[in-house]
Amino acid sequence: FSNFEEANWVFCNTYDKLEDEVVQGHINPMLQFAKRLASKGLKVTFITTKPMQSPSTSISIQTIEFPEGEKANGAEEFAHLYKTLVSERLANLIDHLNSSSSDPPKALVYDSFLPWALDVAKQFGLHGASFFTQSWSNSSIYYHLNQGTLKVPLEENAVVSLPSMPVLGINDLPSFVSDTGSYPGLLKMVIDRFSNFQEADWLFCNTFKELEHEVINWMASKWPIKTVGPTIPSMYLDKRLKDDNDYGLHLFKPDSDLCIKWLDSKETDSVVYVSFGSLAGLTEEQMLELSLGLKRSDRYFLWVVREAEQNKLPSNFIEETSERGLVVSWCPQLDVLAHRAVGCFVTHCGWNSTLEALSLGVPMIAMPQWTDQPTNAKFVADVWQGGIRVSKDEKGVVTKEEVERCIREIMEGERSLEIRKNSEKWKNLAKEAVDEGGSSDKNIEEFVAKLLCN
Ligand code: UDX
Repeated sequence: FSNFEEANWVFCNTYDKLEDEVVQGHINPMLQFAKRLASKGLKVTFITTKPMQSPSTSISIQTIEFPEGEKANGAEEFAHLYKTLVSERLANLIDHLNSSSSDPPKALVYDSFLPWALDVAKQFGLHGASFFTQSWSNSSIYYHLNQGTLKVPLEENAVVSLPSMPVLGINDLPSFVSDTGSYPGLLKMVIDRFSNFQEADWLFCNTFKELEHEVINWMASKWPIKTVGPTIPSMYLDKRLKDDNDYGLHLFKPDSDLCIKWLDSKETDSVVYVSFGSLAGLTEEQMLELSLGLKRSDRYFLWVVREAEQNKLPSNFIEETSERGLVVSWCPQLDVLAHRAVGCFVTHCGWNSTLEALSLGVPMIAMPQWTDQPTNAKFVADVWQGGIRVSKDEKGVVTKEEVERCIREIMEGERSLEIRKNSEKWKNLAKEAVDEGGSSDKNIEEFVAKLLCN
C-alpha cells in the first residue's frame, strides 16, 4: 500500500457480479440428479441463478435473478449476501408454486453450500435434503472440523487419522484445511454445511457406495446419508434414460466437432487428455513445464486451456506442436473420455472429472490444484489405484521431467496394465450402482417412493 494511490487501477481477485457464480462442477451433478428424479415420476423444478434452457421436458427451470450491481468483498461477504438475497426470493418462489400449482412442492433438495435453504424448506413444511457435490471423504474431513474432532491449523508435517479414512498427510487434505490462511471465507463455507445438517431429512451425495464404502458406512450409521451417483448422463452409463446424452448446461462453448474428428483420426489409447476444469488456474511457470513435458512425452495430446488461461501458454507452442497436439478452450469432456483414442487423463481431480474418469474407465494422472482436489488425488492413486499422482518439486511445481515420467508410466509397461485393469473395475461398479436395483438407484427409488406416497 506504500504507493497504491498512484496506480491507475487497483485490480482485485474477488467477486463482482453475483450471477457469474455458477460452477460447472456443482450445476452438472444437481441437474443430473434432477433428471433421475424426473425419470422416476417426480415433477421437478430446478432453481438456478443462471438463466438456462431446460435439458429435459420433464424439468421446469426457474431463475432467481440478482439485482444489478450487487457486490461482495470476499467469499464470506459473498456467502452472506447470497443467503440474504436468495433465501427471500426462494421463499417467494415456493410460495408462488404452492398457490399456483396443482402439485405443490413436497421437498427441497439444495446444494450443501446453502445450508440456510433448510430453513426455507421448514418454513413451508417441506422435506429438506442437502446435496453434497464433492466426495464423501472430503465432506467427512469438513464434518470433523465442524465437530472439533479435527483441529486446525495443523503442523507442517502433520498426519491426520480420521475414522474409516486412510491416514492423510498434510498434502492429502483439502487445500482450505492444509492452508487455513489461503481462503478463510471458503473454509467457513465448507464447514458451515454441517451447521444444521442433523436436521435435514436426507443427505445426498454424488458418489457410489462401492467407491467410498468405509467412510460412508461410518457416517451412515449416524446420519441419513444416501449415495446417488455417479450423476453422469445416462448415455455414458446405464443407458436407461432416453435422450440423456449431455449434462444440459455448458458455461463455455465446447469445440465438439473439432475434438471428436481429431480423436477419430488417432489410434486406440494413444492420446493424453489434459484438463483442469472450470476454475483452476496454473501459474505461468507450471504451464511452461507442462507444455514441455507434453512435448517430451512424444504422445498425442488434447489439452483444454480455457480462454482466460491461454495467454500463459509459451509463445508458438500451439504452432510448434500442431502435429501432435490439439489445444481447445473447452471440449465435450464426456465424449472425449468415452473415446477409444484417449489413453489417459491428466486432471486437476475436480470431483466430477474424477468420477467421470472412473466411470468411463480412463486412467488418471492426478495433478491437484486446490480445494477438494488433493484428497481426490490421494484416493485416485492410493485407494482406488485408478491412476498415479504427480510429485512436485521444492517450489511446488510439477517439472517437465515429472510430467514426461508420469505419462510414460501410465501409457506403457506393467503398472499401466494394472491401472487399466482397476479402471475397468470401477467403470463396471459405477454402472452397476446406477443401473436398476444398484446401490444408488435404490436410494433414489426410496426417496421418490417416500414423496409419492406422502
Ligand atoms: C469445482 C471444483 O474445482 C472441484 O474441485 C469440485 O470438486 C467441484 O467444483 P470444476 O473445477 O469445474 O469444479 O471441476 P470438476 O468437478 O471436474 O467439473 C468440471 C465439469 O466440467 C465436468 O463435469 C466436466 O465434464 C466438464 N468439462 C470440463 C467439460 O465439459 N469440458 C471441459 O473442457 C472441461
